Amino acid sequence: MKFKFLVLLFSLGIGNPGNAQNLEKGKEINSTCAGCHGELGQGGSRGEYPRLAGQQVKYLESQLKAFRARTRVNIPMYPYTQERELPDEDIKDVAAYLASIELPTKWPVFKDSDDALTRLTLTERVMIIPRAPGNLANGEAIYQKKCVTCHGKTGMGRGMFPMLVGQYTSYLMRQMEKYIKGERPHDEEAVGGLLNTLKEEDLQDILAYVTSMQERQ
Ligand code: HEC
Ligand code: HEC
Repeated sequence: MKFKFLVLLFSLGIGNPGNAQNLEKGKEINSTCAGCHGELGQGGSRGEYPRLAGQQVKYLESQLKAFRARTRVNIPMYPYTQERELPDEDIKDVAAYLASIELPTKWPVFKDSDDALTRLTLTERVMIIPRAPGNLANGEAIYQKKCVTCHGKTGMGRGMFPMLVGQYTSYLMRQMEKYIKGERPHDEEAVGGLLNTLKEEDLQDILAYVTSMQERQ
């Protein structure tokens, strides 16, 4: 009896400070983000606003802190990430909420009895990034040699390392260009110059490979 009560408290996130985040609160905070990043964190305007849904939670937190500290420049987001607007606890809640959103990469199979609304709700969440053109074999070779240790075999990232699969191609290209120009710090030391060693074509090929991974999952 006592045990069950504790389990209930834990599953509600009560009595478990610093661990379970408040997803309801996170969802509420997300309504201020949704205008740009979408209600489901799916991003928009073909990558002007990146996808946040399903991204690594630690990474989301680190970027929000970087925007707030202005070590990562993001003018559209300045008003939303100031201390008063987004204290640490809110960062944790909204990051946990966004990380928990799963967007399927397959179209649902409808039943004849499904009405228009049901079909709409089932398809609304589907997010498939179109294949980027490029040389897949070259992209795979470079990715598996130079990116895999941090971004993972399947491009899903982990911890501080962001998921690249399922992200808008135009957004990823823009970020790589920023890294190359030194406008955004990539990784402390190891990759400072990593992207600079690659040719423009190589970057395109990596993106072709990244969009191909999504379909294999
Ligand atoms: C006015 C539009 C706007 C609003 C509102 C907004 N963002 Fe953003 N956000 C952007 C843009 C634009 C970028 C991409 C900047 C770039 O290209 O580097 C971005 C990038 C991000 C990133 C980095 C994603 C990555 O993969 O590195 C995170 C995380 C993020 N936003 C979270 C949020 C959260 C959480 C909120 C709400 C508290 C929010 N944003 C509100 C426009 C917005
Ligand atoms: C040593 C670890 C490491 C390696 C290797 C690495 N990355 Fe990263 N990458 C990171 C980290 C850490 C970040 C987040 C940086 C930040 O905080 O802004 C990142 C971010 C990115 C982003 C931006 C994602 C986003 O959502 O904004 C892209 C694109 C990227 N890396 C591409 C690559 C490619 C392509 C390679 C291989 C050529 C690569 N990375 C190799 C650590 C690494």
